[in-house]
Amino acid sequence: MTKITMLLLQSHLLLGVASALVIHSIPWRVPCPHQCVCQIKPWYSPQSLYKEAPTVDCNDLLLTTLPTSLPTDTQTLRLQSNLISSLNQSELEGLVNLTELDLSQNSFSTTRQLKITDLPALLSLHLEENQFRHLPDAAFSGLPGLQELYLNHNRLRSISPGAFRGLEKLLRLHLNSNRLAVIDRRWFHALPQLEVLMIGGNPVDTIQDMNFKPLASLRSLVLAGMGLKELSGRSLEGLSSLESISFYDNHLTKVPKEALQKLPGLKFLDLNKNPIQVLQRGDFRDMLHLKELGLNNMDELVSIEHSAMENLPELTKLEVTNNPRLSYIHPQAFQKLTSMESLMLNSNALSALHQQTVHSLPNLQEISLHTNPIRCDCLIRWVGADNRKPVRFIEPQSTFCSEPPELKSRRVKEVSFQEMAESCLPLIAPSTFPTYIQVKHGESIAIHCRALAEPEPSIYWVISKGIRLAPSTSYGRYQVLPEGTLEILRVTKEEDGFYTCVAQNLVGADTRSLTLRVEGADWVPPSYTQRAEVTFEVREVRERYALISWHLGRNVPGAHLSWAANDTLEDNHRHSTRILAGTRGFNLTRLHPATRYKVCLHTGPNETSCVHLRTTELLVSVEPADVTPAILIAVSALLLLIVARTCQVGDQETENMHKLVLSQQPKAFVPQLSQQRPQLLDKVPLGGFSEEPARPGQEKDVQDSLVAAC
Ligand SMILES: *[C@@H]1O[C@H](CO)[C@@H](O)[C@H](O)[C@H]1NC(C)=O
Ligand SMILES: *[C@@H]1O[C@H](CO)[C@@H](O)[C@H](O)[C@H]1NC(C)=O
Ligand SMILES: *[C@@H]1O[C@H](CO)[C@@H](O)[C@H](O)[C@H]1NC(C)=O
Ligand SMILES: *[C@@H]1O[C@H](CO)[C@@H](O)[C@H](O)[C@H]1NC(C)=O
Ligand SMILES: *[C@@H]1O[C@H](CO)[C@@H](O)[C@H](O)[C@H]1NC(C)=O
Repeated sequence: MTKITMLLLQSHLLLGVASALVIHSIPWRVPCPHQCVCQIKPWYSPQSLYKEAPTVDCNDLLLTTLPTSLPTDTQTLRLQSNLISSLNQSELEGLVNLTELDLSQNSFSTTRQLKITDLPALLSLHLEENQFRHLPDAAFSGLPGLQELYLNHNRLRSISPGAFRGLEKLLRLHLNSNRLAVIDRRWFHALPQLEVLMIGGNPVDTIQDMNFKPLASLRSLVLAGMGLKELSGRSLEGLSSLESISFYDNHLTKVPKEALQKLPGLKFLDLNKNPIQVLQRGDFRDMLHLKELGLNNMDELVSIEHSAMENLPELTKLEVTNNPRLSYIHPQAFQKLTSMESLMLNSNALSALHQQTVHSLPNLQEISLHTNPIRCDCLIRWVGADNRKPVRFIEPQSTFCSEPPELKSRRVKEVSFQEMAESCLPLIAPSTFPTYIQVKHGESIAIHCRALAEPEPSIYWVISKGIRLAPSTSYGRYQVLPEGTLEILRVTKEEDGFYTCVAQNLVGADTRSLTLRVEGADWVPPSYTQRAEVTFEVREVRERYALISWHLGRNVPGAHLSWAANDTLEDNHRHSTRILAGTRGFNLTRLHPATRYKVCLHTGPNETSCVHLRTTELLVSVEPADVTPAILIAVSALLLLIVARTCQVGDQETENMHKLVLSQQPKAFVPQLSQQRPQLLDKVPLGGFSEEPARPGQEKDVQDSLVAAC
């Protein structure tokens, strides 16, 4: 159970715990019923007033009826865990001071078997874990002083509208873990003073508008473990005194923000264990008294967006932990959280926490980041270097770097500023979205793609048709939202295929792809049956680099480019890089002059297209001061010759390649070792020079000045 739920329960449990601890029990010298124990014990009233109560303890005795000759001054009578199935007033006759009666874990099944007509002093009645199925009208009318009624863990399917009539002083009502399918507002008309209502663990899937309206004194409401999918804006209207609410373990897919706005005094909010995917801008806004917020154990949560939490001036503790997919917190997710002291973010999928996020919390005192796949690069460097204010790290000894490989398993706090890379390549966490999604024909879906990097990356999608969609654009039934979410409305089999999200900044880019299967569509894996027709072109060749471009008939998510020198120094050296979806060209750099290269584009397991090119001769540069005019002239002549030859060779090569349309040559795909910067296999530097959508039939102009000059 999470801390906040604990908090909600604590006040109630406290009573039980305090009396169970039995700190100062003293003997009570009275004739005690057979097998029972009579003692004076500490006792707390439902309003937490302390008393020393004459207590008769007859728990676990297999009793089927009440013991006879109970001491008349008994205040607490415990009959927990027996086999009692009926009880009448005459058995309790004379117990005028009885304040607590515990009949939990017995065999009652109807209130007809519980004929209590007059126990005016009774404050607390425990009937949990019996077999009640129904409560008729005025079921507890002989108990006008009752403050606390436990009916949890029964089999209640129905409760008459007037069941609680006569319980005007009731403060706590426990109806959790029954079989109620609806919550009836009429029950509450009789309970004007109710402060605590526990009604979770019932198969309720809808809260009616103003369902709790009569409960103007209610302070704590637990709606945990029900089937709530959404909450209407008016469902919580009237709960003007409510301080804590729990929606733990429901099916909410969005923060019920309109409903929460109707709770002006809310201090504790528990939304743990709900399938919310994204905390949106404005989800938590202007909740002026909110102190603690729990957003733990959410299996679907991916992202906390810009301004998701705004103007919560009393929020001191935020817990967002154990969310296995949570990989992104926008640097400006938190706005005007001036009292926030404790930020718990452990056990998520966060690769970083932006310095700006921390600086936006002027009162932050402690932070917990352990058990996250922290990437130790420029984004997290502030942890070691930030001296602006001392923020305490919780469990720093278990807050490790998980990337890059050379810093793996080092403690984040112990890696020096200098050791962490300057660059922050974008990183789309593997947990962001699955690689395979199946949807039904006609369904709409949203796929969230986020990446943290410095500078802030831009995100775009390449959809199955090979079209690139930038944020805030739409195309047919596709739409990419500003933050990077791809939405497809009412999918048809046409949307079946590969989708790739690309995140890029000046430093580099990352991609992540998924296959979308539309149920009922005749799907054929495109990489095996539909060969991608590749048109390869060499656009420019120089001494040390070459520009190549290609044209692909469709979106290929996992394409690789490899190149190897044949003739000279780099013999057998192969380089390989991943090609971002939507990229249509590449600048091969660090080549050797006057060398033949074979360049191949690998678009599938057995699909490879190759071209050959030859880099130009090295132009010898000479310091003018070191040469005589004669030599200069000779060198100039030589240079001219070389340029002429180069142009010729270049022209020939280019000519040969230029209109070359290479159909796929089936060839076994050999995974290649990259000698040069192996980490770039995963995180590709921006070698691609095409920013255009890979739209069939559209060409990108490439500067080829050398060819033009020749
Ligand atoms: C009930 O409680 C009152 C006040 O504490 C006390 O005076 C009275 O004697 C008690 N009655 C019995 C039957 O114990
Ligand atoms: C009350 O219970 C006692 C003992 O179980 C029994 O003798 C008596 O008949 C019951 N009275 C009523 C009115 O049910
Ligand atoms: C190098 O290129 C020549 C043709 O120019 C070819 O015959 C030879 O097989 C190549 N060698 C390697 C190792 O690829
Ligand atoms: C390709 O790379 C080389 C060497 O880094 C650079 O000089 C050249 O301008 C680049 N060309 C393009 C089109 O990016
Ligand atoms: C790729 O080629 C290998 C060996 O030539 C063959 O066994 C395999 O089935 C081929 N895979 C596909 C998907 O065509």
